[in-house]
Amino acid sequence: MQVKLKIFRYNPEVDKKPHYDKYEVEADPTDRVLDLLEYVKGNFDGTLSFRRSCAHGICGSDAMRINGRNRLACKMLVKELGTDKILVEPILGLPVIKDLIVDMEPFFANYRSVLPYLINDEPPPKKERLQSIEERERFDDTTKCILCACCTTSCPSYWANEQYVGPAAIVAAHRFIFDSRDRAGAERLRILNDQFGVYRCHTIFNCTEACPREIQVTKAIGEVKRAIATGKIE
Ligand code: SF4
Ligand code: F3S
Ligand code: FES
Repeated sequence: MQVKLKIFRYNPEVDKKPHYDKYEVEADPTDRVLDLLEYVKGNFDGTLSFRRSCAHGICGSDAMRINGRNRLACKMLVKELGTDKILVEPILGLPVIKDLIVDMEPFFANYRSVLPYLINDEPPPKKERLQSIEERERFDDTTKCILCACCTTSCPSYWANEQYVGPAAIVAAHRFIFDSRDRAGAERLRILNDQFGVYRCHTIFNCTEACPREIQVTKAIGEVKRAIATGKIE
């Protein structure tokens, strides 16, 4: 099939404002949008810039807006779009460095702010810190995050105020708050009870819809809100 690609282009070093370039490419319905971008870069314009690494939905580096929705270009098949017109733009709410590449630093600063690592200063047992199957299941869903930023950059609350810590950071916090081996849950809840914490979430659900790992993001945020409200981590 013949596909009409329209791609956001912007190089802040030379362009006064962004523009769109159009390309017509031959595609197989099972091609991924990433394949089309690679084709354009290899055959039409080597200056087209976008991030990618694994090409298999694991590294989280190629989040972009495809026909208006946040998706990983390496997981989005042409046939799933249901059209031969494909619009590719950078994710919203983060500064564009060039074309489809955004500055992820504000995103990672929010991530770091919730202490996204296991904290336990108690002396370790002889073998390991044991955990039951049920205790492990409690936070299983939020372990799947690949930090792609599809959720945070699809959230209207984040667009309205980029100081909002955002759903990805809350998912990262959830993963440790509900880990029975961790001892810093109360500290993370204190951080997220801030004016730019969980209560900036108005349950809009864009994050859950956008997550390529199918994490129940809004549910996880709700569980963190409940833990703050009740003072109980359970
Ligand atoms: Fe990406 Fe999902 Fe993690 Fe958000 S929760 S950063 S959408 S993998
Ligand atoms: Fe935003 Fe998701 Fe909440 S889209 S408002 S973080 S449910
Ligand atoms: Fe790694 Fe798409 S290139 S997730």
